[in-house]
Amino acid sequence: MGKATQDLRKEHEAILFVLRILYKMITANEEDDVDKLEYYNELLNFLKIFVDRCHHGKEENYLFPELINNGFQKEDGPIAAMLQEHRQASEYIKVMSEAVECEDLTRFNDTAEEYRDLLKNHIEKEENIIFAMADKIIDDEAQDCLFEKFEQHEEMVIGQGVHEKLHAMIYNWAEKFKVE
Ligand SMILES: [Fe+2]
Ligand SMILES: [Fe+2]
Repeated sequence: MGKATQDLRKEHEAILFVLRILYKMITANEEDDVDKLEYYNELLNFLKIFVDRCHHGKEENYLFPELINNGFQKEDGPIAAMLQEHRQASEYIKVMSEAVECEDLTRFNDTAEEYRDLLKNHIEKEENIIFAMADKIIDDEAQDCLFEKFEQHEEMVIGQGVHEKLHAMIYNWAEKFKVE
């Protein structure tokens, strides 16, 4: 496994963990609505920064173009499908944000469930198809180079301080909603 795909797989693990927390949040009964809205807001912030900007940014700006350079199709096929799912995921985040603003918990919960299903499937497809192919056709040197670009990208969109804050937030949610 190359360094770049390994980095993305590690991020998938973090995302899947947060999706489990999200599910626990939307199905938890004991919280009152005001508390829930606050958690939803925090979690949306994570999805916007870490999933959309950082993780999808790495795939869209660096990994996918590298695959296209190596002969993958741009318009049709798995990459176009992955890009479409990224757009769909962003749409869901928009709807969830609106729902939080209007304090519409039912709409948030319904959309959150769709978001979770979409992203879980998406991650599975990426790992089994896209990353598996990437590990075959992108050599170690090019993977190292991609990884360096990932690091720069991460620094640009997240930065060290925020990174730690996000980790601390995940830890708090996991404790609060008992997710291991
Ligand atoms: Fe993706
Ligand atoms: Fe991904």
